Amino acid sequence: MEAGGRNPALFFVLLTIFRVASPFNQITERDLTSLVTHSCVVVADIENFPNFAPSFSSIQQTFKDDHGLYFAVTNFARWSTTSNGGLSTKEVPLVHEDTPLVAFPKRVVDRSCLLPPSFQPYPQPIPFQGLQHESILTAFINSQCGTYRSVDGSLSKRGLHRHSILQNLFHVDQSITNLTMDLLYSSHSNPFSTAAECLSSPETADRRLCLPKEDHSMYSQHTQHEHHIAQCERIRLPLTREEFFENYLKKSKPVIIEGAAKHWAAYSKWTHEFLRENYGLKKVHVKLTPGGDFEGVEKAERWEDYGDFSIPDVVRNQLQFPELVVVRPAAANMNFSEFLDLITLAADQSARNVSAYLEYSSIPEYMPDLEGDIEEFIFAKDLLNRKHLNMWLSDGNTIGRLHFDEYDNFLCQLRGQKQVILFDPHDNTRMYEGHIPQAMLSYDASQKRFFRKTLKDSTSMVMSPIDLLNPDLQKFPLFRDVRPLNCSIGEGDVLFMPSFWWHEVYSTPNLSEKRNLAVNFWYEPFLQKEFPCADCDLDINPSYHHLL
Ligand SMILES: *[C@@H]1O[C@H](CO)[C@@H](O)[C@H](O)[C@H]1NC(C)=O
Ligand SMILES: *[C@@H]1O[C@H](CO)[C@@H](O)[C@H](O)[C@H]1NC(C)=O
Ligand SMILES: *[C@@H]1O[C@H](CO)[C@@H](O)[C@H](O)[C@H]1NC(C)=O
Ligand SMILES: *[C@@H]1O[C@H](CO)[C@@H](O)[C@H](O)[C@H]1NC(C)=O
Ligand SMILES: *[C@@H]1O[C@H](CO)[C@@H](O)[C@H](O)[C@H]1NC(C)=O
Repeated sequence: MEAGGRNPALFFVLLTIFRVASPFNQITERDLTSLVTHSCVVVADIENFPNFAPSFSSIQQTFKDDHGLYFAVTNFARWSTTSNGGLSTKEVPLVHEDTPLVAFPKRVVDRSCLLPPSFQPYPQPIPFQGLQHESILTAFINSQCGTYRSVDGSLSKRGLHRHSILQNLFHVDQSITNLTMDLLYSSHSNPFSTAAECLSSPETADRRLCLPKEDHSMYSQHTQHEHHIAQCERIRLPLTREEFFENYLKKSKPVIIEGAAKHWAAYSKWTHEFLRENYGLKKVHVKLTPGGDFEGVEKAERWEDYGDFSIPDVVRNQLQFPELVVVRPAAANMNFSEFLDLITLAADQSARNVSAYLEYSSIPEYMPDLEGDIEEFIFAKDLLNRKHLNMWLSDGNTIGRLHFDEYDNFLCQLRGQKQVILFDPHDNTRMYEGHIPQAMLSYDASQKRFFRKTLKDSTSMVMSPIDLLNPDLQKFPLFRDVRPLNCSIGEGDVLFMPSFWWHEVYSTPNLSEKRNLAVNFWYEPFLQKEFPCADCDLDINPSYHHLL
């Protein structure tokens, strides 16, 4: 809409209407810092650009149904010359003086730091540059504020698509899972208080007994009742880009693609001997634990430096469970052949004190030649931006504890099995999503002993505090209502695990090779969410707006 700038009379009338009706909120730079914490703030300088007033009224109308927007007017010229709201002049950005409109996108809370936001940067203005045409203004606000409006105020085609995607996300069917029942029937039978204890106990002859199975875990299928854990859908190749997008990626639906990695060169080629011969001297970063339980949550008071360690109150007050810590494995650098020796030893029952895991090790970084032995799935490659390609190798008796990853994942099993138990990224209050302090085990190679030595001043943002094998329902009562999904994979199978699905992974070895080998692709997620944030929802990642 033209603002009638060449007609002083119209101009005057508009200005008068504006002054009398006062349809716009006034804003100062002092207001901005608090406004941007919950809104995208769109500010027009009507005083210096009076003929912009009708356009501004009209775009406010366009976005009237979007609650996350705040429209206001100001005189930017005053921002740098008058009181700057108590902020130092240096921090106040200079707003372009040649534009009538500026957007201050909603501040994405940086949840990686729990220290107070006292030195948070001043909101950065994004000046509108372009023709003052309504469709261009609307597109500008859509892009800066994450909205999806057409000029007439209806949802745009992309907005409708987004809405339908978010309405139709896959959820595990409640009717076939009744965890409460399973828990009631199983709580008495596990003699160990945690899986970690079970795994490292000398009485445990076979570590696989510590893994979930009938009659001593929450997963018992009581014979009198038909309570099963929902099973992942299983399909086979071929899978087109459209099928993958429509049926799985858009729905955030896990799926197993059976046998999809079976024809890879890696499947037959990557024997211990081959890896040792070609990469034996490569340095790798290896994780070590006493019993194969990689991560898990326990009382901080068990740690040696507990007495000397204190979390600042300002951080402690933001923790749901300040008394707990996530146990991170010890780490060591060694050459690849030393690592292979370690897992060969560990596979032997007598030396199961040390379990070594080559976890998420970058193939392009450490063993770039091996990438040629893997085939990235075209249907994924065409849609998603690849971030990582990793190798996972262990003696095969490991647990990866309940957590989520901020990536779309293809987990490709080459040797051994993984029983992967997933939980919906929906209603994460039941999973007690939040910051949990962490601590790191130390390993003394000469004594072959582990120590609970070091509490860290960092937190984990992706781990659940719940011990799935022995959940404390007094402490975590909401966990009763979660809905697990069993996505177990065997040799050659590929699990598509969408971003933010919680998962706990129980690996078991190929019995003749005594190892577990997998490869995974991590992609920038199609659906993303803020984390840790138990009540934040999934939304379309702006990097993929072109797919809408
Ligand atoms: C699950 O089990 C609990 C406890 O017995 C019961 O109250 C509830 O109705 C069950 N829910 C379903 C969906 O069967
Ligand atoms: C392994 O653990 C057992 C008991 O758990 C212990 O007796 C043995 O000394 C340990 N072995 C080594 C090499 O530390
Ligand atoms: C998950 O499914 C696999 C087979 O696909 C089965 O062997 C395993 O027992 C199931 N696990 C649970 C906990 O139900
Ligand atoms: C591994 O590296 C160390 C030096 O870090 C070296 O002494 C050793 O011989 C290497 N082992 C093999 C098997 O290459
Ligand atoms: C274990 O690996 C061998 C190849 O070394 C293969 O023939 C066998 O089928 C695998 N076992 C299982 C249970 O997958």
